[in-house]
Amino acid sequence: MHSFGYRANAVLTFGVTMLAVMCTLASLSDNFNTPTTSAEVKILNINWFQKQANGNDEVSLTLNVSADLSSLFTWNTKQVFVFVAAEYETPQNALNQVSLWDGIIPSKEHARFWIHTTNKYRFVDQGSNLKGKDFNLTLHWHIMPKTGKMFADKIVMTGYRLPEEYR
Ligand SMILES: *[C@@H]1O[C@H](CO)[C@@H](O)[C@H](O)[C@H]1NC(C)=O
Ligand SMILES: *[C@@H]1O[C@H](CO)[C@@H](O)[C@H](O)[C@H]1NC(C)=O
Repeated sequence: MHSFGYRANAVLTFGVTMLAVMCTLASLSDNFNTPTTSAEVKILNINWFQKQANGNDEVSLTLNVSADLSSLFTWNTKQVFVFVAAEYETPQNALNQVSLWDGIIPSKEHARFWIHTTNKYRFVDQGSNLKGKDFNLTLHWHIMPKTGKMFADKIVMTGYRLPEEYR
């Protein structure tokens, strides 16, 4: 003879177990999804390039960021956070990373996009010289799943260079 409380508890336990199994399957099935993604960033204009009063170089860019990240979306994807970073070497640091733009992609329908924008965050180098500096533009993304681990990856676009002179 089981009391009502006992049965309710058994039903609840079964429900929680099923949920746990489904969550595990959900995050496992994500691992079988090998996404193909593409990205391109064009520098449409160098708006200005100057040394500030404090000695730091700053550049303002107009960019066209285009990407197709739709394959990152599965039924387990809540949203995808993306950012574009300028990455370059200086004598002080092997990797300097300056975020220029970011955004949140809420759904697969929004995952194929292009955006014409000036850099949302300031592209300033701490103290050293950006004249003629070679840099990469990297599109980073963080996939926020409905359940399971967060996953991050990136596409590196190489071969960018800042002007030799301030303007
Ligand atoms: C940005 O790039 C995309 C893809 O290459 C292109 O379709 C679009 O016309 C470009 N926009 C501008 C303003 O250059
Ligand atoms: C750009 O990326 C390539 C490939 O990851 C790397 O070998 C190179 O050192 C990077 N260049 C700069 C200037 O950071």
